[in-house]
Amino acid sequence: MPTYHIEGGHLLNGEVTISGAKNAAVAIIPATLLVKGPCRIENVPDISDVHILLNILEQMGATILRLPNDTVEIDCSAVEYTQPSATLAQQIRASYYLIGAQLGRFGRAHVALPGGCNFAPRPIDQHIKGFLALGAKVEETESYVNAEAGPSGLRGGRVNLDVVSVGATINIIIAAALAPGQTIIENAAREPHIVDLANFLNTMGAKISGAGTDVVKIRGVSALRGGFYSIIPDQIEAGTYMAAVAAVGGNVLVKNVIPKHMDCITAKLREMGAAVTESDDAIRVEKIRRLRRATIKTMPYPGFPTDMQGQVGVCMALAEGVSRITESIYETRFFAYCDELRAMGASIQVNGKTAYITGQPKLHGATVRAHDLRAGAALVIAGLAAEGNTVVQDIHFIERGYENLIGKLTALGAKIYRQED
Ligand code: EPZ
Repeated sequence: MPTYHIEGGHLLNGEVTISGAKNAAVAIIPATLLVKGPCRIENVPDISDVHILLNILEQMGATILRLPNDTVEIDCSAVEYTQPSATLAQQIRASYYLIGAQLGRFGRAHVALPGGCNFAPRPIDQHIKGFLALGAKVEETESYVNAEAGPSGLRGGRVNLDVVSVGATINIIIAAALAPGQTIIENAAREPHIVDLANFLNTMGAKISGAGTDVVKIRGVSALRGGFYSIIPDQIEAGTYMAAVAAVGGNVLVKNVIPKHMDCITAKLREMGAAVTESDDAIRVEKIRRLRRATIKTMPYPGFPTDMQGQVGVCMALAEGVSRITESIYETRFFAYCDELRAMGASIQVNGKTAYITGQPKLHGATVRAHDLRAGAALVIAGLAAEGNTVVQDIHFIERGYENLIGKLTALGAKIYRQED
């Protein structure tokens, strides 16, 4: 199995350009199933989650043109109803968006339950609640979801989510885009990738309003045509590089970002003592002193993102004093990386959904294992900051969501390479 090998202690200096947002791309690609015509999409990140989704659509009959400069053209006009590949669907979490897309396009769906990062239980009851509100019948078995619209097809409905769910909000928007009448999603999630999906669908002719607020309204249209779209920069990839500079040291310009999306991360790193300056589409981070302790409570957007918990946790592991992270979305997420960081010298006590991190002057290299995408990214940051050498195993998790991680880090002065076996 491939591994990353890291020689710690090298400052990060220079510029890094952020790729397209993974969690927007994995929503927009399945949504092209609704569109009769070619969708030319720019800023598509070159990551395995995207590759898998494109392969699924291709196997379903879509025409996919993989063009230079992170551009893909997807034409699902000729796709007929067929079950997406279970083998591929079970490899990623976002395959569940194919349920909403098939339901929206064909009035029925039969999709294998998703896989992906299993740092916590990942129920889909809120997705199903939304499909029921659109008039569908839904059956969830051990391994599949079967859904079928009524005899007159889907129709607009109203759903109040019991939990603020990114996936459910996205899946219901996709299913409702072609459903006659108005659909209202209350207590909707507000993440930037939800707004990006809505903007993509509206570009293709949909009528979606309120994305980015907690009430999203979708007026169903009869058809969506092809068009051109560019995906937003990845908030979490950008945050990961910002946290890396704060933990490791150096001075880096993080380019192709939307500073507004980074507000919580920027504020926290400033509070910890990093120098963070914003311009229109870039953020500069410089480590100017040993970081100070901080407290974080993860929340849905615009709160502090749960997907940044581990990366900032490494900053805390090297900061002065005792920091605290309270995880309010996935309570068991700590276990994906705390033991590994302890093996590198971190002092972390977890009590329920709160972790207390006592900063140490240094971490030391070790052989560690990535248990999920963001925990893996945190371990890479720890290895870059540590004294000595670190080997990160199970890096396939990391490569699901970070385009050209080795190339980007090496260009900043990191000593890191990928070993095939
Ligand atoms: C998305 O997962 C992201 N994945 C996750 O990022 C991210 O951690 C999460 O949103 C929260 O921001 C993608 O976008 C592909 P949720 P999702 O539905 O949609 C509960 C990464 O690193 N819930 O917002 O699965 C759930 O258990 C990944 O890129 C239900 O109870 O997250 C959780 O406690 C990891 N029932 C909370 O809601 C449901 O039907 C938020 O989950 C759905 C969710």
